[in-house]
Amino acid sequence: MAESSAPGEQAAALRVQIEQHNHSYYVLDQPTVSDAEYDRLFRELQALELAFPELLRPDSPTQRVGGAPLAAFNEVRHATPMLSLNNAFEQEEVEAFDRRVAEALGSPLIEYATEPKYDGLAVSLVYENGLLVSGATRGDGTTGEDVTTNLRTVRSIPLRLHGRHAPASLEVRGEVLMLKADFARLNERQAQLGEKIFANPRNAAAGSLRQLDPRITATRPLTFYAYGTDVAASGLYTRHSETLDALTQWGFPVTRERRVVIGSAGVLAYFADIGARRSQLPFDIDGVVYKVNLLAAQNTLGFVSRAPRFALAHKFPAEEAETVVEAIEVQVGRTGALTPVARLAPVLVGGVTVTNATLHNEDEVRRKDVHIGDTVVVRRAGDVIPEVVRVVAEKRGADAQPFIMPLQCPVCGSDTSKAEDEVIARCTAGLYCPAQRKQALLHFASRRAIEIEGLGDKLVDQLVDRQLVHTPADLYRLTRETLAGLERMAEKSATNLLAAIEKSKQTTLARFIFALGIRTVGESTAQDLARYFGNIEAVMGADDTALQQVPDIGPVVAHSIAGFFGEPHNRSVVQALLDAGVRFEQAAALALDTAGAAYGKTFVLTGALPTLSRDAATQRIRDCGGKVTGSVSKKTDFVVCGADPGSKQVKAVEFGIAILDEAGLLNLLGQSEKK
Ligand code: IVH
Repeated sequence: MAESSAPGEQAAALRVQIEQHNHSYYVLDQPTVSDAEYDRLFRELQALELAFPELLRPDSPTQRVGGAPLAAFNEVRHATPMLSLNNAFEQEEVEAFDRRVAEALGSPLIEYATEPKYDGLAVSLVYENGLLVSGATRGDGTTGEDVTTNLRTVRSIPLRLHGRHAPASLEVRGEVLMLKADFARLNERQAQLGEKIFANPRNAAAGSLRQLDPRITATRPLTFYAYGTDVAASGLYTRHSETLDALTQWGFPVTRERRVVIGSAGVLAYFADIGARRSQLPFDIDGVVYKVNLLAAQNTLGFVSRAPRFALAHKFPAEEAETVVEAIEVQVGRTGALTPVARLAPVLVGGVTVTNATLHNEDEVRRKDVHIGDTVVVRRAGDVIPEVVRVVAEKRGADAQPFIMPLQCPVCGSDTSKAEDEVIARCTAGLYCPAQRKQALLHFASRRAIEIEGLGDKLVDQLVDRQLVHTPADLYRLTRETLAGLERMAEKSATNLLAAIEKSKQTTLARFIFALGIRTVGESTAQDLARYFGNIEAVMGADDTALQQVPDIGPVVAHSIAGFFGEPHNRSVVQALLDAGVRFEQAAALALDTAGAAYGKTFVLTGALPTLSRDAATQRIRDCGGKVTGSVSKKTDFVVCGADPGSKQVKAVEFGIAILDEAGLLNLLGQSEKK
């Protein structure tokens, strides 16, 4: 079609066509042509522009490839300052913000536009007569750097506004960032080329946008999302959300993750929802932003110092922080595994003070090149154990010491060994190693296992060091006389301890199996085993194949369980415990309890319950065959709410999940127990 028309018309048609494909691909995420067809159109336009240079236009897609390198960026003064946002971390702060807004506006229910808080770089884009004429970084808020040529290379930024109703003059603000998947690919490519590896998508985006050579920027996969525009001040729109809709019409990418909600309950539900999906979002966010949606209300509220009174950034707790490694110690676990642990100068991460971080194993220490004395970044995400993410190499002092993994067990001095296909070194001394024995005993006696109240680490140290106790069965042979010889063991404590030991004999099969400390058997696997087999003899007699019949047990766990009970030493400990009088009558009932209302159901506990502790409630649920998890998802069956339940309750309502109070829970469990 284009062949017969004039070159000028041909070029214009190609520009429109190519930019439409760009928009479909980069903004709508819905590719409309094959790469080959896109390349063909692109080369056709390039050839025309080469033959007729007078046809070249600033909004030609061929102009997205960068130009000559700059010596420095020019300064640009922003038409209106680029302000910052007030931050909140706690629910109470969000509620206080909503109350202030409601009071100032004299209206009880406020409509908010909610958006992700992108973790990238703020930029301002200026369009004149539909064409992108200038793009700048935020800088100090008043003056930024002119990065127009670099921003032109960002495919999702329109070079020309779409649609017929675009204003003659327009400023758009938003965030330049790198999608997580693009970041991963970029780093892979950088590694192959032996080039710099970026620490995170934000750094990669910043480094790429602030390149003096735009041709380098053009090779970096940057993305843009718009979150504001000066047409809000034009009087043509009533709501912030409508201005964002208009930006979509003009060709800008605006996230689909935005919502319009009502009141503090609405914003908190949005926060909870995005928080739960954070890791699945294609880009990094460090929180969400709430903006009073009515533009007239925004005007009434105005600004205080450098931040709007009508908006709030609700941030996630920082999950990473820098601190210093004061020492690297090696811990021996109850399975003999040697774990290097970094002792850290105390630091607040994700709202919790962290003083230790696991280094996992020797290979990890080498790979991350952690020295004693190094400044490191530690991360604590959710409930996971804090870990050392990386060393801040520039901060390494001359006195930093490399870590040497001991060849002998730091507790018993026995040799350590590492299987060829394993990264974990283990002490070879088994239960003869006091560390393993002590850990095994503490685990056995712990609250969720057999539960012997008062048997803490000081006491276990003495019992093991004086060779009074070798295996958990020995605990049941302790007498008033043997205990009397121990430090800090008054008559009364001895009586209490013996009573606690006696009491522990009456337990459940699940607790008993868990207490044995089989390497791969946590509480829930122990429950699965108890429920499936119903008695200890059956569990001990099951081979790999039989064990794999248990739901959720795979070959690795099955093998480790069969291996444990194949060891005569372990069988004799079990026998000795049974001989000592450990009993689990409840187990038989449990095994039959599959018809109960709680059986197989997933519970989330939130807020303080009036009488039951968190652990007690968890145990009761488990005893009825239920499962307790930490966060509300579509798979949750019941959310049990106490006082101040917070965002989990909001989420339960949103997902339509049944909410119980303590009485409701007990009623439900009662039904289970009766059946
Ligand atoms: S609105 C008047 N919306 O947060 C305030 N900012 O602290 C205008 N940011 O540097 C900002 N996502 O780059 C707004 N959805 C969003 C945002 C957002 C990220 C950044 C912005 C600015 C900082 C403000």
